[in-house]
Amino acid sequence: MCGITGYVGGREKSVRLVLDNLKKLEYRGYDSAGVAVVAADTHDVTVLKRQGKLGNLEAALDGLGAARGTVIAHTRWATHGRPSDGNAHPHCDCTGRIALIHNGIIENYLSLKERLLAEGHVFHSDTDTEVLAHLIESHLKRNGGKMEMAVRGALAEVTGAYAVCVVSEQEPETIYAAKTASPLIIGLGEGENFLASDIPAVMGHTRRVLVLEDGDFARITPDGVTLTTVAGEPITRDEFAVTWDVRTAEKGGYPHFMLKEIHDQPQTIRDTLRGRVTEGNQITFPELKLPTAKLLDFHRIVIVACGTAYHAGMVGKSFYEHLLRRPVEVQVASEFRYNDPIVDQHTLAIIISQSGETADTLAALREAKVKGATTLAIVNVVGSSIAREADEVIYTYAGLEISVASTKAYVSQLIALYLIGLYIAQQENKLDREVVAAYVEQLKALPRQVAQILTQADAIAELARPLAHSSSFFFLGRGFDYAVALEAALKLKEVSYIHAEAYAAGEMKHGPLALVEPGVSVVCFATQSALYDKMLSNVKEVKARDGAAIAVVKEGDEGLDARSVDSVIRIPGTHDTFMPVLAIIPAQLLAYHIAAALGREIDQPRNLAKSVTVE
Ligand code: M6R
Repeated sequence: MCGITGYVGGREKSVRLVLDNLKKLEYRGYDSAGVAVVAADTHDVTVLKRQGKLGNLEAALDGLGAARGTVIAHTRWATHGRPSDGNAHPHCDCTGRIALIHNGIIENYLSLKERLLAEGHVFHSDTDTEVLAHLIESHLKRNGGKMEMAVRGALAEVTGAYAVCVVSEQEPETIYAAKTASPLIIGLGEGENFLASDIPAVMGHTRRVLVLEDGDFARITPDGVTLTTVAGEPITRDEFAVTWDVRTAEKGGYPHFMLKEIHDQPQTIRDTLRGRVTEGNQITFPELKLPTAKLLDFHRIVIVACGTAYHAGMVGKSFYEHLLRRPVEVQVASEFRYNDPIVDQHTLAIIISQSGETADTLAALREAKVKGATTLAIVNVVGSSIAREADEVIYTYAGLEISVASTKAYVSQLIALYLIGLYIAQQENKLDREVVAAYVEQLKALPRQVAQILTQADAIAELARPLAHSSSFFFLGRGFDYAVALEAALKLKEVSYIHAEAYAAGEMKHGPLALVEPGVSVVCFATQSALYDKMLSNVKEVKARDGAAIAVVKEGDEGLDARSVDSVIRIPGTHDTFMPVLAIIPAQLLAYHIAAALGREIDQPRNLAKSVTVE
């Protein structure tokens, strides 16, 4: 998740000021940083960039630290191109007179780059972003030197997600800014204005903020802000007064990162899907080098991961077996290499890890490689060890996940797994184009459906409070719901410290039912159409032992209601195989609010670390 800051105005040492603002965005995570200043006196554009922490950039500032002028600065979280000085932002055009910073992904950068190379532009980085600098230069040449028109023209050609800020020698006291899908705010001052990707960065200077919306284009000078669409239609946005403190602002106004990250999930799903779905709703993975013939040659698929990522893998197993009719094994990474795994050159090993640094998962990846498997990693952190060592990498683009309890990374792993399964089926001609397109339509509807579930957040918080007094929890499900139950139980235990177990619902009567008594709460997932009636029977078994039963069902399924269970959470329906994405949302909220009611350290639960780098 890149961070953006900018400044136009007359202050001394404005480079320092903008870098200090950028430090307030360090919580977003980054691997390199850079700054561009248009000097107030000479109007020269100077750019400085360094891999690593902001300290590296500051150490290299020399005289620039005292410079005055219009400034943009950026922390980069690598997507296209590894972390390096050259790939860090800002990026410039060929003349060095235009500099820009960007958060997001330019999806059509390859075709644009080919065109620009043919026009004679020279590139200095592996990034998608640099294309935009050259594209502005190209428009500027064609339109006779009108900067605003050039920026608009370039943006009109770009598809993907962006928050972008552009400065130039030609207009030394102007920043052009625009956004689609990535966040950007303007802090309003007196005779000066600020830009940032998040509010905490400007709070030391102003509490008056404009939050830009998708499609907004801003011309920002010391004296004011002009807002239009990219095409030039005037628009207005209401100014908003920030009343939070800085820590709350970092969390987007939520009391904890976990809750913020739960609410981030509609966007997370869009980000994981972005660039992987064609206009005709087929699946594409431009990043995969694996030839199709090889992809179709695998006799078995082995999925290996830990914790939440392992639970995502369980969903992947069921989906792949359903779709591909090939045997799929899912293994806990800490066991994998001690199990003498049956893996050879005909095996595809899918390694899932948010951090890309989990020691057991990394060791499993190495074991699979030694045994001859092709390894495909599903990873969130770009450039992490697992991403580097795997034969193929598919990034989840969930952004930085700060809460130890994984929420949005899990959902992004599910989406990546679905896409890979559909991709293999598509390449294998196992599914007609129309069938793939129908699946994709349902995937594309998930962000809206997750957002719809999140509107029930207050009601789920109400439901959670009395449940905080439960002595223990069971989470039950069948089929895909069993994998959800496992993840839901993990979420509750790690943040609330209440003992919780997940069972395939049919297993309850083989032993665990003996534990159900008053004070024990049982969350029953009943979202699988073919197994719904069976779940009804399992719920009755729980109620007959006076456990508190909470059911998660699809809207329209009326078999479980206030007469048969203590509470019902209704969620929208999708293809049964995609229900885990929706069913986990109320469970995440329940876990969060139960932990909040108990006053737990939600973002950093006792005894746990975000990245488990020891065996
Ligand atoms: O970074 P990874 O995905 O490899 O981490 C694996 C587990 O440690 C992780 O999912 C853990 O279970 C989460 N804290 C659960 O919320």
